[in-house]
Amino acid sequence: MRVLLLGSSGQVGRALLAFKPAGYKLLVPGRSEVDYLQPESITDYVLFHKPQLVINCAAYTAVDKAEAETALCTRINSGACEHLAKAAAAADAVLLHLSTDYVFDGLLDRPYNEEDSPAPLSVYGHSKWLGEQTIVANCAKHLIVRTSWIFDADSNNFVNTMLRLAASRSELRVVADQVGGPTPASELARAIWQLARQSVERNGPWGVYHFSGQPFVSWYEFARSILTEAYRLCVIHQLPTITSISASEFGSPAQRPANSRLDGSKIKALYGVAAADWQSELVNILKAKARAVTSVTNPGC
Ligand SMILES: NC(=O)c1ccc[n+]([C@@H]2O[C@H](COP(=O)([O-])OP(=O)(O)OC[C@H]3O[C@@H](n4cnc5c(N)ncnc54)[C@H](OP(=O)(O)O)[C@@H]3O)[C@@H](O)[C@H]2O)c1
Repeated sequence: MRVLLLGSSGQVGRALLAFKPAGYKLLVPGRSEVDYLQPESITDYVLFHKPQLVINCAAYTAVDKAEAETALCTRINSGACEHLAKAAAAADAVLLHLSTDYVFDGLLDRPYNEEDSPAPLSVYGHSKWLGEQTIVANCAKHLIVRTSWIFDADSNNFVNTMLRLAASRSELRVVADQVGGPTPASELARAIWQLARQSVERNGPWGVYHFSGQPFVSWYEFARSILTEAYRLCVIHQLPTITSISASEFGSPAQRPANSRLDGSKIKALYGVAAADWQSELVNILKAKARAVTSVTNPGC
């Protein structure tokens, strides 16, 4: 199968490259070939190469900065998606697109399913919701995977932010009134490849799917897990005090949903993809970091 992977330099794109199934021919253009700010470059590339599957991991992802960069964020996350969806449809390709828990307002008292109505709170969330709608309208063979709180070993994400701050601070203040599912990029990549293979083989079912890690936790609980394990494994050498605060005390520019929990029943029922176990992947990542740290600086640990 000929697969076009867009956004291959990002957190999810790199995981997809790492877990690519055998027998797939990947097209991996960089920004010099496909730039979402020049959407005709998307159309030209898709229609020239005619992939059978397009996986879209490219996006404007700076959630807080987006509050001041509405036009730029919307051009990338929505305007470019319209061109992509039309080009994929013209090439008769399947379009697998990533979206986010931030399309919801987080007011429900249960995990969100695919039938629940989006009501984004932030510019980023709104742009992703617009992107979803244009894909649904313009490309019948679409799979939209909403996911949340992605982490891997190397990217600028919550896990690495906690580790970096723990190295220099004795107290960390972490938001406790937002709950969601941390999602390992590696598990998301496996789920995406499984979805891609089955949907192309069976010609669907198309639509929106929720996939995240479990168990659901608050950012505060996630931080405690990261730092407790990191300390146990000697990745960090002091355990900071972790103080729970509210999102309003933290005061970030973009408002985020208090309830980011995504119900993964549909993807499990239709594609056999189970929720990811984030705790075991977190330990794997920290063990790899521990091996690197102890071999260099702390052989006695
Ligand atoms: N990270 C999360 O926690 C999270 C949660 C839920 C959903 N998602 C969604 O998951 C997807 C992947 O996220 P991620 O964490 O992998 O993002 P990421 O690490 O920020 O990567 C974004 C990718 O988009 C590319 N890109 C940005 N602007 C572009 C442009 N103008 N033209 C072409 N490419 C451009 C980047 O390329 P360069 O390297 O050239 O900048 C990079 O490859 C996104 O749709 C995001 O909305 C993410």
